Amino acid sequence: MARFVIIGTSGLGGTLARTLAGQGHSLHLISRGADALSELGRELGASFAAADVTDALALDAAILAAGAPLDGLAYCVGSINLKPAHRVSDSDALSDFEINALGALRAVRSALPALRASAQTTASVLLFSTVAVAQGFANHASIAMAKGAVEGLTRALAAELAPKIRVNAIAPSLTRTPLAASMTSNEATAKAIAALHPLQRLGEISDIAPLAALLLSPASDWITGQVIGVDGGRSSLRTRG
Ligand SMILES: NC(=O)c1ccc[n+]([C@@H]2O[C@H](COP(=O)([O-])OP(=O)(O)OC[C@H]3O[C@@H](n4cnc5c(N)ncnc54)[C@H](OP(=O)(O)O)[C@@H]3O)[C@@H](O)[C@H]2O)c1
Repeated sequence: MARFVIIGTSGLGGTLARTLAGQGHSLHLISRGADALSELGRELGASFAAADVTDALALDAAILAAGAPLDGLAYCVGSINLKPAHRVSDSDALSDFEINALGALRAVRSALPALRASAQTTASVLLFSTVAVAQGFANHASIAMAKGAVEGLTRALAAELAPKIRVNAIAPSLTRTPLAASMTSNEATAKAIAALHPLQRLGEISDIAPLAALLLSPASDWITGQVIGVDGGRSSLRTRG
């Protein structure tokens, strides 16, 4: 049985937590919403601590509350603020950077001693990017900048923390989660975006959670520094023309 920290527990993070708990692993959950967090913690028999990742001290305390050793950490926090570049304020861009990239660095920094103490051959860190880094999309300047930083962070940490700690990222395309509800809840919009994918549908959480669990497990012990697209082919394929 391994012990993992999951940060961000509404969408993918919540399903990842249920998947890992179902495999018998021990979990420490961190999110902002204290009520939903304590409900999930009780359901999964997990320890938990509420924190906003923009509060570095609170995040540090919430991670230290997980104890040591730790075998993995998944940073599933994210934001979607889509606007044309001329309407992206400095504070929009700084907020996306802090939530998506700086928060991930803070989380890994706080967890490092516990991850280094893992009894497994390797401990594992999992971050999340987006298809909008590999493929340019209009109105995505702020989130593409922030997630581009996550991809750089993934490779830099993977190099620096090898051989004890592996670091990988998953880059999804549009996936039905609470975060993406503003884009997926209108069926006409969802259908139009689905049709842009070679595999002709949007992502579901069940397309991503099994890979996330695999990347945290010793079964992926020789995978590090990778950004893996789970995107219905959208980042790299063109089926017409
Ligand atoms: N869904 C997609 O289409 C999609 C596409 C590309 C990439 N991604 C990435 O995949 C990862 C998981 O996304 P998801 O769709 O499953 O997200 P989600 O869980 O539906 O929602 C975002 C999560 O981020 C947390 N969060 C946001 N701001 C926070 C803050 N300041 N402090 C602490 N927690 C904060 C939310 O916490 P609360 O519950 O407390 O609000 C929530 O758990 C994210 O990194 C996202 O950027 C998702």
